[in-house]
Amino acid sequence: VSLKKYNTFGIDAKASSFVSVSTLDELKEALSTTTKRKFVLGGGSNMLIKNDIEALVIHINLKGIEVVKEDKDSIWLEVAAGENWHSFVMHCVNNNYGGVENLALIPGNTGTSPVQNIGAYGVELKDVFDSCSTINRKSLESKIFTHSDCKFGYRESIFKNEAKDLYVITSVTFKLSKKDHNLNTGYGAIQEVLKQKEIKNPTIKEIAEAVIHIRSSKLPDPKLLGNSGSFFKNPVIRKELYDTLQSKYAGLPVYPLSNEEVKVPAGWLIEQAGFKGYRIEDAGVHDKQALVLVNYGNATGDNLWDLALQIKDEVYKKFKINIEPEVNIVK
Ligand code: EPU
Repeated sequence: VSLKKYNTFGIDAKASSFVSVSTLDELKEALSTTTKRKFVLGGGSNMLIKNDIEALVIHINLKGIEVVKEDKDSIWLEVAAGENWHSFVMHCVNNNYGGVENLALIPGNTGTSPVQNIGAYGVELKDVFDSCSTINRKSLESKIFTHSDCKFGYRESIFKNEAKDLYVITSVTFKLSKKDHNLNTGYGAIQEVLKQKEIKNPTIKEIAEAVIHIRSSKLPDPKLLGNSGSFFKNPVIRKELYDTLQSKYAGLPVYPLSNEEVKVPAGWLIEQAGFKGYRIEDAGVHDKQALVLVNYGNATGDNLWDLALQIKDEVYKKFKINIEPEVNIVK
């Protein structure tokens, strides 16, 4: 079975077997087959599949959004793992539930959103996350992970570390605000859009529209050009290294973290290393955002991975900074 339409990079890798599950029972049945390797697939938006995979691919197609609790200020929605993330965001925006508007247009499904604590424009999933339901891949027992259980960090959670590949997230519960929602408008690009449109007191919907506008102007639409969003994480470096670099490259942007460490944008480093718009055959670096690798059509996972390694090497040579992939590399 080709996985081309199940991964946003559009890589034509093949799986030895494939099943799409729409109920918990079907999921459990798939998990209990004797096939040696099982690979759980959500929206396929944060992975680079290097080659064909010898595994049973279990595609999570659980659907539904339910209100589980409500008080005068907040509403708790339980969203099945197979719901598309952006559709869920628009569901909230249309109902005037606040909290996820800055996360509009992020590709992928709701079920995988906690894994890397998706984030954009000053908001992270952890700001609205209440809990998630999971099934243990071996014992098939259900387990709920609370906020603190998940150990969220920048593009990090327990599901990328201790709990990696041990559970399937089946639904995520979010706490959203129904009134007096504190909008997050601090991000420069959002402010610019609001200023341009002369919006003084933006609504939830106007923030979502601003984010959609910003993202569509520099991030490629995976339906038109295969990609997986930011390919690398923004590296955290020591303050001393930053000071040294800053004296040489005055334009180096920075996100302060603590007295000892700062985060710098990998997109800037990659652009400075000369890769923006670079292309070898069908594997390329996006011309508007150097942090995004793209598949012009027939790139294989290996082609893209070779390009990623080349970028990593050059960035290290030039800045002595190690950049690490944000996407999952599937071998
Ligand atoms: N920059 C360049 N050249 C580039 C790209 C960026 O110089 O080619 C500079 C920009 O000028 C800017 C800085 O780098 O000063 C930051 O760029 P941007 O605002 O585009 O954000 P980012 O740090 O590159 C992160 C997230 C994005 C998220 C944006 C907005 C990571 C790995 N990426 O990107 O997330 O949308 O901030 O909040 O943290 C994703 O995870 O897939 C993703 C797209």
